[in-house]
Amino acid sequence: MTSHKDENAASEQPTSLTRRSLFKVIGAATAAATGTSLLTSCSEQKNSTATNLGFKEIPHKLDFQHHLPNGYSADLLLRWGDPLDAFTGAFVPERLDAKEQSRRFGYNNDFIAYMPLDPDAAPGEGDKHSLSRNSERGLLCVNHEYTQPHLMFTGYTEASANRGTSDEHIAVEQQACGHSVVEIEQTADGWQPVLGSPYNRRITLTTAMAIVGAAAGDKRLQTGEDPSGTQVLGTVGNCAGGKTPWGTVLIAEEGFGGAFQGDPDNVADEVEARNHHAFGVDKGNRNWGDYDRRFDITAEPNEPNRFGWMVEYDPYDPNSKPRKLTGLGRFEHEGFTVVSKPGEPIVAYGGDDDEHQFVYRFVSSGTFQPGNNTYNRELLTEGTLYAGQFNEGGSGIWLPLVFGQGLLTPENGFRNQADVLIDCRRAARLIGATPMDRPEDVETNPVNDCTYVMLTKNKKRATGEENAANPRARNAAGHVLEIVPPGRSGLRDHASNTFRWNTFLLGGNPNAEDPAERGAYGQQNPANISAHGWFANPDNVAFDSRGNMWIATDGCESFGFHDGLWAMATEGELRAAPKHFFGCPEGAEICGPEFTPDGKTLFISVQHPADAGDSTYDNPLHRWPDNDPKMPPRPSVLAIRRQDGGSIGS
Ligand code: FEO
Ligand code: CA
Ligand code: CA
Repeated sequence: MTSHKDENAASEQPTSLTRRSLFKVIGAATAAATGTSLLTSCSEQKNSTATNLGFKEIPHKLDFQHHLPNGYSADLLLRWGDPLDAFTGAFVPERLDAKEQSRRFGYNNDFIAYMPLDPDAAPGEGDKHSLSRNSERGLLCVNHEYTQPHLMFTGYTEASANRGTSDEHIAVEQQACGHSVVEIEQTADGWQPVLGSPYNRRITLTTAMAIVGAAAGDKRLQTGEDPSGTQVLGTVGNCAGGKTPWGTVLIAEEGFGGAFQGDPDNVADEVEARNHHAFGVDKGNRNWGDYDRRFDITAEPNEPNRFGWMVEYDPYDPNSKPRKLTGLGRFEHEGFTVVSKPGEPIVAYGGDDDEHQFVYRFVSSGTFQPGNNTYNRELLTEGTLYAGQFNEGGSGIWLPLVFGQGLLTPENGFRNQADVLIDCRRAARLIGATPMDRPEDVETNPVNDCTYVMLTKNKKRATGEENAANPRARNAAGHVLEIVPPGRSGLRDHASNTFRWNTFLLGGNPNAEDPAERGAYGQQNPANISAHGWFANPDNVAFDSRGNMWIATDGCESFGFHDGLWAMATEGELRAAPKHFFGCPEGAEICGPEFTPDGKTLFISVQHPADAGDSTYDNPLHRWPDNDPKMPPRPSVLAIRRQDGGSIGS
């Protein structure tokens, strides 16, 4: 195996603004000026020393490389087409067929879970592996969100790609989306995949899965091929996800509607027609239905109802059958992340990434029992799903999505709990949940125990449609909310049906000359933000062991610079004052991010590099990361480390 060392990275010099000289000008007056109240803040360290994020910030740029601070390097760990097996030949995109793609790393890598391996445990021993904190050998579990024929195959324009795809290419696409499990290890040459590992696995659109939970078996999930409504082939639109303390991985199904072809108005059932419209099923979508009748709604009108769920599987058992968890609702799932405390219910938070959609929370019926994974593995199948209502003054309520309660009755078109879960969006709107600015990741900070909601943007929010938690009309830059459950740090009650919330930061340039452009960064004075510290369009987020927040963006190019990573404290004087850590090549967005347990490696996904303008396979904008004239641009996972071996960001 060749060592994919980082030959394209461009390290940066320190940028102009000196941040330390600007620390002293914040306080209650600033909080008042930015319209936030300290009383709703998660921060309990109003006078603490600022958390030290020790790297030298990189500048905003837009070019064909990736960028890291001085003192850091990135191993090019996995690229589209890289083999999972030991005796596979070189990747030749023009010769790629479906069988081969089914054993190679998929396209458009997104979510990353690093699952440590216990050196004394074998495949199938997830109970042992799930207790490991091994930061040098583990499983990298990666989503592949969607395929782009015009960047994968020769002969397409961007306009022709989705409608003219051949049977052969569609078969490859169905194997290139989904998910990969790849064993990786840290060697003297950096992180490497372990080719031929028994753990290595592809999950694709043809992988057998079960449907479980309250909607399983419902008539709306039944098809010609599956009259039981409990078995389905594959997963699609796999955006972000989550991990559980019992060693499983959660895969989100986000933009699934685009996989289905046909005119919803030709579906006889009115409920189903409205449902398919809501998720973007359309006659102009990609032509997968020509090849595989499952994706033609005139042939199988219920097949789209079998997508839009969260999927759970055990990466430590390569033969485990993934399960679609209907209890977590059906919508355009960004991801779901789990908060677990011994003896208490499991709480999981997730978002529906579409304009004016909702933030959700699931509370399990059973309680988390460390060490009893057979029992814990059923926790996400039974419980109550809630939608968030964010009220004026920083109060909030979780509203239950339970058939028979409130307005969720037959008079309003709900037959049973399956209807509530399948038509989750309609149910949440009816009971008064707050329509948000495209909820992306929702994650809990392990240090302060508060939960953060990435709201990426919402240009469809008209003037007059603003609300307390989504204060900007035509929100182009996005924002981040902080949910504060009752209780003290570490002991917060995430199962409580009430919470406090506040605006953590508003995306955009807080120092822009035009007041209309200026954002307000939570409690912080804009003077703490350098000319390169601001960003827009938060998408994914991770926390390091000190509670610092690392935000990955998707959309900064519309503000003139690359997408990337920005890191910031969540408490103390530099709360919500971002520093720019990573920038990606033009056309890409950044996903992941994921730390090893020791905090010394940060994995990130660079998704759809060179996807800009009229870039195609035959004439790409650039060819990152290989920069080889025979190779197209390739979505890739990088493993970032500090050259001195220290913790990232410290
Ligand atoms: Fe696939 Fe919500 O980003
Ligand atoms: Ca995302
Ligand atoms: Ca995205």
